Amino acid sequence: MLIRRPPDIPSSEITPRELYMKRRLFLKAGAAGLAAASPAAAAFFGGDSEADRIGPGPKPYADAPRHPASTEEEPTSYKDATTYNNFYEFGTGKDDPARNSDAFEPRPWSVQVDGECHKPATLPLDDLLRPHTLEDRVYRLRCVEAWSMVIPWVGFPLGDLLARFEPTSAARFVEFTTLLDPAQMPGQRSRVLDWPYREGLRLDEAMHPLTILAVGLYGEVLPKQNGAPLRLVVPWKYGFKSIKSIVRIRFVRERPATAWNTSAPQEYGFYSNVNPRVSHPRWSQAKERRIGDGLLAPKRETLMFNGYGDQVAHLYAGMDLTKHF
Ligand code: MTE
Repeated sequence: MLIRRPPDIPSSEITPRELYMKRRLFLKAGAAGLAAASPAAAAFFGGDSEADRIGPGPKPYADAPRHPASTEEEPTSYKDATTYNNFYEFGTGKDDPARNSDAFEPRPWSVQVDGECHKPATLPLDDLLRPHTLEDRVYRLRCVEAWSMVIPWVGFPLGDLLARFEPTSAARFVEFTTLLDPAQMPGQRSRVLDWPYREGLRLDEAMHPLTILAVGLYGEVLPKQNGAPLRLVVPWKYGFKSIKSIVRIRFVRERPATAWNTSAPQEYGFYSNVNPRVSHPRWSQAKERRIGDGLLAPKRETLMFNGYGDQVAHLYAGMDLTKHF
């Protein structure tokens, strides 16, 4: 499965990202030399140990069946996927979510599902997940994100969950909301976004089998910095649609307000479909660089709908995607 993270970050973020990449390259180059001389140095500089590649923790989802849409591409290292994140509730730096989320408690957790549906309910996480068992519903997904990464997600189709709440015929969109708790989420004490983080999908997008609710990655339970205990993954859209640490799912009649569209409407549209032909006002979106390729590697061509056109293009038939970006 290909999933793209956006070049969707404010310009202030771009320089730190380049610096971050250079620093990583420098550390890797240093590690290569030093690791030979000293295992302690290798540990310090973070060479590609087995734990760096596949993760250090227990792997309850290791045997989850592989999703048919998974890519054959080599996964990004676990270390990169879990230390280079966007989760502004824990700070705006890429390493802030991993550093600042220790005190965050993703259990116990409950999710409210309401709005235009016949069976609204607020369910403890285990009750919400129970019908979606490992045996038949949790898939291992390998994904590409746009700066970009290949992540083996563990998740199940959001549509399966939504159907249980029986949306009414008036439901046209789905709104998602992240936990609001500045005591646990220090980034919410600053006004960098209009909290809580919100996202939205059209109902048909939300019901599409490629729209995934993720509960894990690399066979492990979802780490806090990646959106524990429950986050969205929408493979044909830029990464900011993938809202983390969801506490509420609401069926609505009107298009819901979303965090980035509210913050900068000219830059971040509601649809946010990966589209190399529509530039962000401040940068082209035609090419991407994959983390782990190194700064000298050529950039890759970005694919329309992240390569999922065959599956999802029909959802947008007749729409002007330069207008509905
Ligand atoms: N969800 C919440 N609640 N807060 C955020 O700041 N950042 C978004 C998205 N979901 C964000 C969020 C952005 S901009 C991106 S690119 C992805 O999460 C990054 O997900 P990852 O760090 O797991 O790769």
